[in-house]
Amino acid sequence: MTQDKFTPRVFSGIQPSGGLTLGNYLGAIKRFVDMQDQGGFETVYCMVDLHAITVWQDPADLTRNTRELCAGFIASGIDPEKSILINQSQVPEHAQLGWVFNCVARMGWMGRMTQWKDKAGKNSENASLGLFGYPALMAADILIYHATHVPVGEDQKQHLELTRDIAAKFNHDYKVDFFPLTEPVIEGAATRVMSLRDGSKKMSKSDPSDMARINMTDDADAIAKKIRKAKTDPDALPSEVKGLENRPEARNLVNIYAALNDQSVDAVLRDVGGRQFGEFKPMLADLAVAKLAPISSEMARLMGHPDEIDRILTRGAERARAITAPILRKTYDIVGMVPPVSG
Ligand code: TYM
Repeated sequence: MTQDKFTPRVFSGIQPSGGLTLGNYLGAIKRFVDMQDQGGFETVYCMVDLHAITVWQDPADLTRNTRELCAGFIASGIDPEKSILINQSQVPEHAQLGWVFNCVARMGWMGRMTQWKDKAGKNSENASLGLFGYPALMAADILIYHATHVPVGEDQKQHLELTRDIAAKFNHDYKVDFFPLTEPVIEGAATRVMSLRDGSKKMSKSDPSDMARINMTDDADAIAKKIRKAKTDPDALPSEVKGLENRPEARNLVNIYAALNDQSVDAVLRDVGGRQFGEFKPMLADLAVAKLAPISSEMARLMGHPDEIDRILTRGAERARAITAPILRKTYDIVGMVPPVSG
């Protein structure tokens, strides 16, 4: 497989299934902005509304959450001129390639996905078929662009391995060299931001306790309060990374600080080693407010202009389809689907 025949292209997506958290921001969106700005890639970022409905979404909430997510992308620095910004349902080739991949992927592969096991739990008989097939649609999101790089948080690693398996099986079954084996980009200090109440649990929008997460819509007071109340241990901060072993809450707060301040964890610990949390927490709260408050106020401003957001998404879908329509047609040709005649 020759990967260098593919245009360097980044694709990633986020579900519009509720508020954005600091985990989404540091693990994904901030990295999306970096990859957009570093140049050398075409960048496509997506609100995956078709994925969101694999579990129940109130229709009015879905519409609002999709616009709010779009506002969050833009407020964080995604430029709709530089990047292609879309919602998945406006680019029908995602779902169309998703169907082909439903026929390539194996039931056994899907059944081994930890996200499926976590979300369906013991009640899998009652889960939607869409939830089971979720990773095949995710592979289609990526491969309908022939994307070469996918920035994500650590929790998406298994899905990206499956994406490579699907691409490889398609190429093998049809004896082609058509889909790239996409590289996951899981980098930075905050690839797994943990709950503020329990350092062994991922920070998540579905955590029942709002104190466990920082929402991108939280105001300065809420951010400061959540950090002040974050669980910690009684010891001072270490001067070296090794000293964070077996201290998940301390590690989490230091990781968050490093990611927000674009520093390495080593550099942060060189500065703050020896300090107590009573001193470090206000530093972190000030930093978080300085970085996040402008984003949340810009999100609120953009949400006052939903027509503008809708125009950006419509334009994004047009640009996206210039890439996805030819790749879908070529896929159908490989599979042996009779094409329409022109004229
Ligand atoms: P979703 O919507 O659950 O999360 C969006 C992104 O945020 C990252 N993330 C985190 N990173 C660090 N710490 C956390 N606590 C944290 N919580 C969430 C996720 O890793 C992800 O990068 N299946 C995907 C959406 C998707 C997608 C795609 C992603 C659909 N198609 C194609 C990439 C490419 C999901 O559920 O993400």
